[in-house]
Amino acid sequence: MFHAPELFHRPVLAEKIAKQVLTVAVGSAASSGVFLAAPRRTGKSTFVREDLRPAFERAGALVVYADLWANPTVDPGEVIVAAVRAALTTKDGVVMRLAKASGLSKIAVGGAVNFDLDRVGLGKEVSLSDALVALSDEIKQVIVLIIDEAQHAITTDAGIAALFALKAARDELNSTQHYGLRVVCTGSNRDKLAMLRNSKEQAFYGAPMVNFPMLGKDFIEWFCQKAELSFPLSPERVWPLFAEAAYRPELLGSAADTLRFNFDVGADTGPDTFENEVRQLAIELSQVQRKVIRSLTPIQQVVLRVVAASGSNYAPFEAATMALYRKGLQLAGEAEEDVRVDVPGVQQALLALQEKKLIWKAARGVYAIEEQTVADILAADGLLKGLEPAAEQGGVAP
Ligand SMILES: Nc1ncnc2c1ncn2[C@@H]1O[C@H](COP(=O)(O)OP(=O)(O)OP(=O)(O)O)[C@@H](O)[C@H]1O
Ligand SMILES: [Mg+2]
Repeated sequence: MFHAPELFHRPVLAEKIAKQVLTVAVGSAASSGVFLAAPRRTGKSTFVREDLRPAFERAGALVVYADLWANPTVDPGEVIVAAVRAALTTKDGVVMRLAKASGLSKIAVGGAVNFDLDRVGLGKEVSLSDALVALSDEIKQVIVLIIDEAQHAITTDAGIAALFALKAARDELNSTQHYGLRVVCTGSNRDKLAMLRNSKEQAFYGAPMVNFPMLGKDFIEWFCQKAELSFPLSPERVWPLFAEAAYRPELLGSAADTLRFNFDVGADTGPDTFENEVRQLAIELSQVQRKVIRSLTPIQQVVLRVVAASGSNYAPFEAATMALYRKGLQLAGEAEEDVRVDVPGVQQALLALQEKKLIWKAARGVYAIEEQTVADILAADGLLKGLEPAAEQGGVAP
Protein backbone atom coordinates (compact mmCIF):
# COMPACT_ATOMS: atom_id res chain seq x y z
CA MET A 1 0.00 0.00 0.00
CA PHE A 2 1.20 3.51 -0.76
CA HIS A 3 1.75 5.81 2.18
CA ALA A 4 2.09 9.51 1.64
CA PRO A 5 5.40 10.54 3.17
CA GLU A 6 4.96 11.76 6.70
CA LEU A 7 5.49 15.41 7.34
CA PHE A 8 6.52 17.45 10.25
CA HIS A 9 3.98 20.25 10.71
CA ARG A 10 4.71 23.77 11.84
CA PRO A 11 1.32 25.15 12.84
CA VAL A 12 2.65 27.83 15.19
CA LEU A 13 4.85 29.40 12.54
CA ALA A 14 1.99 29.20 10.04
CA GLU A 15 -0.46 30.92 12.40
CA LYS A 16 2.07 33.64 13.08
CA ILE A 17 2.73 34.38 9.41
CA ALA A 18 -0.97 34.20 8.53
CA LYS A 19 -1.87 36.62 11.28
CA GLN A 20 0.82 39.08 10.28
CA VAL A 21 -0.25 38.99 6.66
CA LEU A 22 -3.96 39.34 7.39
CA THR A 23 -3.78 42.13 9.94
CA VAL A 24 -2.16 45.02 8.21
CA ALA A 25 -1.29 48.23 9.98
CA VAL A 26 -2.43 51.46 8.39
CA GLY A 27 0.12 52.68 5.87
CA SER A 28 2.17 49.50 6.13
CA ALA A 29 3.71 48.16 2.97
CA ALA A 30 2.69 44.68 4.06
CA SER A 31 -0.53 45.17 2.11
CA SER A 32 1.79 44.95 -0.90
CA GLY A 33 2.30 41.36 0.02
CA VAL A 34 5.09 39.58 1.77
CA PHE A 35 8.12 37.70 0.45
CA LEU A 36 9.32 34.52 2.11
CA ALA A 37 12.87 33.67 1.09
CA ALA A 38 14.82 30.51 1.96
CA PRO A 39 17.47 28.41 0.20
CA ARG A 40 16.66 25.53 -2.14
CA ARG A 41 15.19 22.26 -0.83
CA THR A 42 14.62 23.51 2.71
CA GLY A 43 10.85 22.96 2.79
CA LYS A 44 9.27 26.18 1.50
CA SER A 45 6.68 24.59 -0.78
CA THR A 46 5.83 21.91 1.75
CA PHE A 47 5.26 24.52 4.43
CA VAL A 48 3.19 26.74 2.16
CA ARG A 49 0.96 23.88 0.98
CA GLU A 50 0.65 21.86 4.16
CA ASP A 51 0.74 24.46 6.93
CA LEU A 52 0.37 28.02 5.68
CA ARG A 53 -2.55 27.46 3.35
CA PRO A 54 -4.67 25.72 6.02
CA ALA A 55 -3.74 28.46 8.51
CA PHE A 56 -5.08 31.12 6.15
CA GLU A 57 -8.21 29.09 5.56
CA ARG A 58 -8.79 28.65 9.27
CA ALA A 59 -8.51 32.42 9.59
CA GLY A 60 -11.36 32.78 7.09
CA ALA A 61 -9.45 33.60 3.91
CA LEU A 62 -9.90 32.13 0.45
CA VAL A 63 -6.52 30.89 -0.78
CA VAL A 64 -5.51 30.89 -4.44
CA TYR A 65 -2.27 28.96 -4.98
CA ALA A 66 -0.02 29.28 -8.02
CA ASP A 67 3.23 27.31 -8.33
CA LEU A 68 5.28 28.95 -11.08
CA TRP A 69 7.74 26.06 -11.17
CA ALA A 70 5.34 23.15 -11.30
CA ASN A 71 5.44 23.11 -15.07
CA PRO A 72 8.39 24.99 -16.57
CA THR A 73 6.91 24.90 -20.07
CA VAL A 74 3.87 26.97 -19.12
CA ASP A 75 4.30 30.75 -19.07
CA PRO A 76 4.26 32.02 -15.47
CA GLY A 77 1.67 34.63 -16.45
CA GLU A 78 -0.63 31.86 -17.66
CA VAL A 79 -0.13 29.90 -14.43
CA ILE A 80 -1.30 32.88 -12.39
CA VAL A 81 -4.32 33.42 -14.66
CA ALA A 82 -5.22 29.72 -14.50
CA ALA A 83 -5.09 29.74 -10.70
CA VAL A 84 -7.45 32.71 -10.55
CA ARG A 85 -9.82 31.11 -13.08
CA ALA A 86 -9.88 27.91 -11.05
CA ALA A 87 -10.87 29.90 -7.96
CA LEU A 88 -13.70 31.57 -9.90
CA THR A 89 -15.28 28.29 -10.90
CA THR A 90 -15.69 27.23 -7.29
CA LYS A 91 -18.39 29.84 -6.77
CA ASP A 92 -21.40 29.88 -9.09
CA GLY A 93 -22.34 33.38 -8.09
CA VAL A 94 -19.05 34.75 -9.34
CA VAL A 95 -19.53 33.39 -12.79
CA MET A 96 -22.99 34.96 -12.85
CA ARG A 97 -21.55 38.31 -11.79
CA LEU A 98 -18.89 38.19 -14.48
CA ALA A 99 -21.46 37.19 -17.08
CA LYS A 100 -23.67 40.11 -16.15
CA ALA A 101 -20.80 42.54 -15.96
CA SER A 102 -19.45 41.60 -19.35
CA GLY A 103 -22.97 42.06 -20.77
CA LEU A 104 -22.15 39.64 -23.53
CA SER A 105 -23.34 36.41 -22.08
CA LYS A 106 -26.37 34.61 -23.24
CA ILE A 107 -28.46 33.67 -20.26
CA ALA A 108 -29.72 30.40 -21.62
CA VAL A 109 -33.28 29.19 -21.21
CA GLY A 110 -33.74 28.00 -17.67
CA GLY A 111 -31.31 30.62 -16.40
CA ALA A 112 -28.09 28.64 -16.83
CA VAL A 113 -25.20 31.02 -17.32
CA ASN A 114 -23.16 30.66 -20.40
CA PHE A 115 -19.92 32.37 -19.59
CA ASP A 116 -16.64 31.17 -20.93
CA LEU A 117 -13.83 31.58 -18.42
CA ASP A 118 -11.36 31.90 -21.28
CA ARG A 119 -12.61 35.44 -21.46
CA VAL A 120 -10.89 36.19 -18.16
CA GLY A 121 -7.21 36.99 -18.40
CA LEU A 122 -4.43 39.33 -19.40
CA GLY A 123 -5.61 41.60 -22.20
CA LYS A 124 -8.98 39.82 -22.26
CA GLU A 125 -12.47 41.37 -21.88
CA VAL A 126 -12.53 40.58 -18.18
CA SER A 127 -9.29 41.63 -16.52
CA LEU A 128 -7.67 39.70 -13.70
CA SER A 129 -8.53 42.61 -11.46
CA ASP A 130 -12.24 42.57 -12.44
CA ALA A 131 -12.36 38.85 -11.84
CA LEU A 132 -10.84 39.15 -8.37
CA VAL A 133 -13.20 42.01 -7.52
CA ALA A 134 -16.20 39.85 -8.48
CA LEU A 135 -14.81 36.99 -6.42
CA SER A 136 -14.21 39.22 -3.41
CA ASP A 137 -17.70 40.70 -3.56
CA GLU A 138 -19.28 37.29 -3.91
CA ILE A 139 -17.48 35.54 -1.08
CA LYS A 140 -17.07 38.60 1.16
CA GLN A 141 -13.79 37.15 2.44
CA VAL A 142 -10.21 38.24 2.16
CA ILE A 143 -8.39 36.53 -0.72
CA VAL A 144 -4.81 35.34 -0.26
CA LEU A 145 -2.87 34.63 -3.41
CA ILE A 146 0.18 32.48 -2.76
CA ILE A 147 2.76 32.47 -5.54
CA ASP A 148 5.44 29.83 -5.15
CA GLU A 149 8.75 30.63 -6.88
CA ALA A 150 7.45 34.08 -7.69
CA GLN A 151 10.68 35.28 -9.28
CA HIS A 152 9.77 33.33 -12.42
CA ALA A 153 7.02 35.84 -13.08
CA ILE A 154 9.60 38.39 -14.18
CA THR A 155 11.16 36.11 -16.78
CA THR A 156 8.38 36.63 -19.31
CA ASP A 157 6.27 39.53 -20.55
CA ALA A 158 3.02 37.77 -19.62
CA GLY A 159 4.40 37.17 -16.13
CA ILE A 160 5.25 40.85 -15.72
CA ALA A 161 1.78 41.78 -17.03
CA ALA A 162 0.22 39.42 -14.47
CA LEU A 163 2.13 41.10 -11.65
CA PHE A 164 0.89 44.51 -12.73
CA ALA A 165 -2.64 43.19 -12.96
CA LEU A 166 -2.26 41.89 -9.42
CA LYS A 167 -1.03 45.24 -8.21
CA ALA A 168 -4.16 46.87 -9.64
CA ALA A 169 -6.34 44.17 -8.10
CA ARG A 170 -4.65 44.55 -4.75
CA ASP A 171 -5.10 48.32 -4.69
CA GLU A 172 -8.77 47.92 -5.59
CA LEU A 173 -9.57 45.05 -3.23
CA ASN A 174 -7.78 46.67 -0.31
CA SER A 175 -9.96 49.76 -0.64
CA THR A 176 -12.87 50.01 1.76
CA GLN A 177 -15.44 48.74 -0.76
CA HIS A 178 -14.10 45.20 -0.90
CA TYR A 179 -12.70 42.49 1.31
CA GLY A 180 -8.98 42.59 0.79
CA LEU A 181 -6.29 40.82 -1.22
CA ARG A 182 -2.94 39.71 0.13
CA VAL A 183 -0.15 38.29 -1.96
CA VAL A 184 2.39 35.95 -0.43
CA CYS A 185 5.41 35.14 -2.60
CA THR A 186 8.10 32.56 -1.96
CA GLY A 187 11.43 32.06 -3.64
CA SER A 188 14.88 30.66 -3.05
CA ASN A 189 17.02 33.56 -4.09
CA ARG A 190 16.88 36.89 -2.34
CA ASP A 191 18.48 38.80 -5.23
CA LYS A 192 15.83 37.53 -7.60
CA LEU A 193 12.94 38.16 -5.26
CA ALA A 194 14.32 41.61 -4.56
CA MET A 195 13.78 42.49 -8.22
CA LEU A 196 10.05 42.16 -7.61
CA ARG A 197 10.05 44.74 -4.89
CA ASN A 198 12.94 47.14 -5.33
CA SER A 199 11.78 49.47 -8.05
CA LYS A 200 8.78 51.75 -7.83
CA GLU A 201 7.40 50.38 -11.09
CA GLN A 202 7.37 46.90 -9.66
CA ALA A 203 4.09 45.47 -8.50
CA PHE A 204 5.25 44.75 -4.97
CA TYR A 205 7.30 47.83 -4.30
CA GLY A 206 8.34 47.93 -0.66
CA ALA A 207 6.81 44.60 0.31
CA PRO A 208 8.67 43.16 3.30
CA MET A 209 11.18 40.37 2.71
CA VAL A 210 11.05 37.79 5.45
CA ASN A 211 13.76 35.23 6.03
CA PHE A 212 11.72 32.10 6.15
CA PRO A 213 12.99 30.04 9.11
CA MET A 214 14.67 26.71 8.46
CA LEU A 215 13.30 23.54 10.03
CA GLY A 216 14.48 23.51 13.63
CA LYS A 217 15.47 21.24 16.48
CA ASP A 218 11.87 20.16 16.97
CA PHE A 219 11.97 18.77 13.42
CA ILE A 220 15.16 16.86 14.24
CA GLU A 221 13.59 15.36 17.35
CA TRP A 222 10.61 14.29 15.29
CA PHE A 223 12.90 12.88 12.60
CA CYS A 224 15.01 10.88 15.04
CA GLN A 225 11.87 9.35 16.50
CA LYS A 226 10.37 8.49 13.12
CA ALA A 227 13.53 7.27 11.40
CA GLU A 228 12.84 3.63 12.30
CA LEU A 229 16.42 2.51 12.02
CA SER A 230 17.83 -0.55 13.73
CA PHE A 231 19.66 1.78 16.12
CA PRO A 232 18.57 4.98 17.87
CA LEU A 233 19.59 8.39 16.50
CA SER A 234 20.25 11.12 18.99
CA PRO A 235 18.90 14.59 18.21
CA GLU A 236 21.98 16.15 19.85
CA ARG A 237 24.17 14.52 17.21
CA VAL A 238 21.85 14.93 14.25
CA TRP A 239 21.11 18.63 14.80
CA PRO A 240 24.62 19.92 13.96
CA LEU A 241 24.70 17.45 11.09
CA PHE A 242 21.48 18.94 9.73
CA ALA A 243 22.99 22.43 9.87
CA GLU A 244 26.02 21.09 8.01
CA ALA A 245 23.68 19.64 5.39
CA ALA A 246 22.30 23.15 4.84
CA TYR A 247 18.98 22.27 6.51
CA ARG A 248 17.88 19.99 3.68
CA PRO A 249 15.58 17.27 5.08
CA GLU A 250 16.11 15.08 2.01
CA LEU A 251 19.73 14.40 2.95
CA LEU A 252 18.69 12.97 6.31
CA GLY A 253 15.84 11.07 4.67
CA SER A 254 17.99 9.42 2.01
CA ALA A 255 20.73 8.56 4.48
CA ALA A 256 18.13 6.82 6.65
CA ASP A 257 16.72 5.00 3.61
CA THR A 258 20.16 3.72 2.69
CA LEU A 259 20.87 2.48 6.21
CA ARG A 260 17.56 0.68 6.42
CA PHE A 261 18.94 -1.76 3.84
CA ASN A 262 22.33 -2.04 5.44
CA PHE A 263 22.10 -5.01 7.74
CA ASP A 264 25.66 -4.77 9.03
CA VAL A 265 25.17 -1.70 11.19
CA GLY A 266 24.39 -2.08 14.85
CA ALA A 267 23.85 0.33 17.69
CA ASP A 268 27.63 0.80 18.05
CA THR A 269 28.45 1.78 14.46
CA GLY A 270 25.03 3.09 13.37
CA PRO A 271 25.27 6.75 14.36
CA ASP A 272 28.72 7.15 12.77
CA THR A 273 27.59 5.43 9.61
CA PHE A 274 24.57 7.70 9.44
CA GLU A 275 26.75 10.77 9.84
CA ASN A 276 29.13 9.65 7.09
CA GLU A 277 26.23 8.86 4.81
CA VAL A 278 24.75 12.37 5.17
CA ARG A 279 28.15 13.99 4.56
CA GLN A 280 28.72 11.77 1.55
CA LEU A 281 25.38 12.79 0.05
CA ALA A 282 26.13 16.48 0.57
CA ILE A 283 29.48 16.04 -1.19
CA GLU A 284 27.90 14.13 -4.06
CA LEU A 285 25.34 16.87 -4.59
CA SER A 286 27.95 19.60 -4.79
CA GLN A 287 30.12 17.36 -7.02
CA VAL A 288 27.32 17.30 -9.60
CA GLN A 289 27.42 21.08 -9.78
CA ARG A 290 31.24 21.16 -9.74
CA LYS A 291 31.28 18.89 -12.76
CA VAL A 292 28.94 21.20 -14.66
CA ILE A 293 31.15 24.17 -13.75
CA ARG A 294 34.30 22.32 -14.86
CA SER A 295 32.77 21.45 -18.21
CA LEU A 296 32.35 25.12 -19.13
CA THR A 297 34.46 26.83 -21.79
CA PRO A 298 36.88 29.47 -20.44
CA ILE A 299 34.65 32.38 -21.45
CA GLN A 300 31.54 30.75 -19.96
CA GLN A 301 33.38 30.06 -16.74
CA VAL A 302 34.71 33.56 -16.34
CA VAL A 303 31.30 35.09 -17.06
CA LEU A 304 29.77 32.82 -14.40
CA ARG A 305 32.46 33.82 -11.90
CA VAL A 306 31.89 37.52 -12.55
CA VAL A 307 28.08 37.15 -12.23
CA ALA A 308 28.57 35.34 -8.93
CA ALA A 309 31.09 37.86 -7.61
CA SER A 310 29.05 40.92 -8.62
CA GLY A 311 25.67 39.84 -7.24
CA SER A 312 22.97 42.40 -7.90
CA ASN A 313 25.53 44.88 -9.32
CA TYR A 314 26.22 42.75 -12.36
CA ALA A 315 26.14 44.74 -15.62
CA PRO A 316 27.07 42.30 -18.41
CA PHE A 317 28.49 44.59 -21.08
CA GLU A 318 29.92 47.59 -19.25
CA ALA A 319 33.57 48.40 -19.84
CA ALA A 320 34.43 47.70 -16.20
CA THR A 321 32.76 44.30 -16.42
CA MET A 322 34.60 43.49 -19.66
CA ALA A 323 37.82 44.30 -17.82
CA LEU A 324 36.79 41.93 -15.04
CA TYR A 325 36.26 39.09 -17.53
CA ARG A 326 39.80 39.65 -18.83
CA LYS A 327 41.19 39.79 -15.32
CA GLY A 328 39.34 36.60 -14.41
CA LEU A 329 40.81 34.81 -17.44
CA GLN A 330 44.29 35.91 -16.45
CA LEU A 331 43.75 34.73 -12.88
CA ALA A 332 42.66 31.36 -14.24
CA GLY A 333 45.84 31.18 -16.28
CA GLU A 334 44.19 31.46 -19.68
CA ALA A 335 46.20 33.11 -22.43
CA GLU A 336 44.35 36.27 -23.33
CA GLU A 337 44.68 35.91 -27.09
CA ASP A 338 42.97 32.50 -26.95
CA VAL A 339 39.65 33.80 -25.64
CA ARG A 340 37.40 36.30 -27.36
CA VAL A 341 36.15 38.79 -24.81
CA ASP A 342 33.69 40.96 -26.71
CA VAL A 343 29.96 41.64 -26.55
CA PRO A 344 28.88 38.78 -28.86
CA GLY A 345 31.20 36.39 -27.03
CA VAL A 346 29.77 37.36 -23.66
CA GLN A 347 26.23 37.20 -25.04
CA GLN A 348 26.81 33.65 -26.25
CA ALA A 349 28.30 32.64 -22.92
CA LEU A 350 25.30 34.07 -21.05
CA LEU A 351 22.95 32.09 -23.26
CA ALA A 352 24.89 28.88 -22.70
CA LEU A 353 24.94 29.45 -18.93
CA GLN A 354 21.20 29.97 -18.96
CA GLU A 355 20.70 26.72 -20.83
CA LYS A 356 22.82 24.92 -18.27
CA LYS A 357 20.64 26.44 -15.54
CA LEU A 358 23.61 28.16 -13.92
CA ILE A 359 22.33 31.67 -14.36
CA TRP A 360 18.88 33.15 -14.57
CA LYS A 361 17.62 35.98 -16.72
CA ALA A 362 14.76 38.32 -15.96
CA ALA A 363 12.76 39.57 -18.93
CA ARG A 364 14.56 42.89 -19.01
CA GLY A 365 18.09 41.62 -19.36
CA VAL A 366 18.96 41.44 -15.67
CA TYR A 367 20.99 38.39 -14.68
CA ALA A 368 21.48 36.56 -11.43
CA ILE A 369 23.15 33.35 -10.39
CA GLU A 370 20.57 30.55 -10.56
CA GLU A 371 21.41 28.93 -7.23
CA GLN A 372 23.33 30.29 -4.31
CA THR A 373 25.07 26.92 -3.92
CA VAL A 374 26.85 27.51 -7.24
CA ALA A 375 28.23 30.80 -5.93
CA ASP A 376 29.22 29.02 -2.71
CA ILE A 377 31.11 26.35 -4.65
CA LEU A 378 32.92 28.97 -6.73
CA ALA A 379 33.88 30.85 -3.57
CA ALA A 380 35.01 27.66 -1.82
CA ASP A 381 37.19 26.78 -4.81
CA GLY A 382 38.78 30.25 -4.73
CA LEU A 383 37.31 31.18 -8.10
CA LEU A 384 35.81 34.49 -6.99
CA LYS A 385 39.07 35.92 -5.63
CA GLY A 386 40.08 39.18 -7.24
CA LEU A 387 36.70 39.59 -8.94
CA GLU A 388 34.79 41.19 -6.09
CA PRO A 389 33.44 44.66 -6.92
CA ALA A 390 35.56 46.21 -4.12
CA ALA A 391 38.77 44.98 -5.69
CA GLU A 392 37.70 46.47 -8.98
CA GLN A 393 37.39 49.94 -7.45
CA GLY A 394 41.09 50.35 -6.89
CA GLY A 395 42.38 47.56 -4.75
CA VAL A 396 41.35 48.44 -1.22
CA ALA A 397 40.11 44.91 -0.70
CA PRO A 398 41.73 43.03 2.20
N1 LIG B 1 8.03 19.63 7.22
C1 LIG B 1 8.64 18.63 6.57
N2 LIG B 1 8.62 17.38 7.05
C2 LIG B 1 9.23 16.36 6.39
N3 LIG B 1 9.87 16.51 5.21
C3 LIG B 1 9.91 17.74 4.67
C4 LIG B 1 9.30 18.87 5.32
N4 LIG B 1 9.51 19.95 4.57
C5 LIG B 1 10.20 19.52 3.48
N5 LIG B 1 10.44 18.22 3.53
C6 LIG B 1 11.12 17.43 2.49
O1 LIG B 1 12.19 18.21 1.95
C7 LIG B 1 12.19 18.19 0.54
C8 LIG B 1 12.14 19.60 -0.01
O2 LIG B 1 10.91 20.19 0.36
P1 LIG B 1 10.21 21.32 -0.50
O3 LIG B 1 10.02 20.90 -1.91
O4 LIG B 1 9.04 21.77 0.27
O5 LIG B 1 11.34 22.43 -0.43
P2 LIG B 1 11.48 23.76 -1.29
O6 LIG B 1 12.25 24.69 -0.42
O7 LIG B 1 10.17 24.21 -1.79
O8 LIG B 1 12.40 23.23 -2.48
P3 LIG B 1 12.67 23.93 -3.90
O9 LIG B 1 13.80 24.90 -3.65
O10 LIG B 1 13.09 22.81 -4.79
O11 LIG B 1 11.41 24.61 -4.32
C9 LIG B 1 11.02 17.33 0.13
O12 LIG B 1 11.50 16.05 -0.20
C10 LIG B 1 10.14 17.26 1.36
O13 LIG B 1 9.47 16.04 1.46
MG1 LIG C 1 9.51 24.74 -3.72
